[in-house]
Amino acid sequence: MTYQETTIQKIVGQRGYRKNIKGDNFSLYISNYPCNAKYLKSRIGNPQLTLAELCCSIGVTLEYLAQGFKKVIGVDLDKNILEMCKTNLEESGFIAKTELICGDVFNDNLLKSIEADIVIYDIPFWYSHYQENRGDLVSKNPPLKKLIRKIEDYITLDIIVFSPPEWDYNYFKEQLGIIEFEQVFIEGKHNRNQIYLGDLIRKVGMTEIHLKK
Ligand SMILES: C[S@@+](CC[C@H](N)C(=O)[O-])C[C@H]1O[C@@H](n2cnc3c(N)ncnc32)[C@H](O)[C@@H]1O
Repeated sequence: MTYQETTIQKIVGQRGYRKNIKGDNFSLYISNYPCNAKYLKSRIGNPQLTLAELCCSIGVTLEYLAQGFKKVIGVDLDKNILEMCKTNLEESGFIAKTELICGDVFNDNLLKSIEADIVIYDIPFWYSHYQENRGDLVSKNPPLKKLIRKIEDYITLDIIVFSPPEWDYNYFKEQLGIIEFEQVFIEGKHNRNQIYLGDLIRKVGMTEIHLKK
């Protein structure tokens, strides 16, 4: 089912989002599932650390990770989306430990201004926010390797990349070297891949996690 064929109520119900979550149906459609955000919190959460999410959208992942970190930082290019993110963090009670930055993650000065122990980069594979066009995802995105090396140089070596399920292990291995490539299955369906770098790697190579909604 595409995002045009569904409604906010359906997505909220199907994925188990908080009832009053703010978001248009496209943002909700491409957002993380709460069960995966909770899993990440249990895997990487540390109340002494700061986590930044690049391309945070309406903040579904941030909302859950805020529970497990000292501070969270969200970066998104879209001012309206970031407003909804702010409301979501307010309504979930975590705005006091949240910093939101409106900007382009391919801007070096923006990256240099971020102080975080862990960075999540959610590849904005949709390109134009309101166009669902999943053609050649790789060629549509700016070079992954270049951006990841910048995050490593300016912010931290401990990085997680979210990728759509279509991108395979070999692509990331070629681009990034030593990785843990975690395939995330939700209710048996391959939902996304999570690529861990630095000290976040538990096992080099391919791993899987099976989650229930
Ligand atoms: C990658 S998804 C975000 C899903 C979210 N991270 C989650 O886990 O629920 C799409 C977001 O990326 C943002 N985006 C796209 N290109 C960007 C860029 N160059 N810099 C910052 N944000 C960008 C879009 O505005 C959109 O809100």
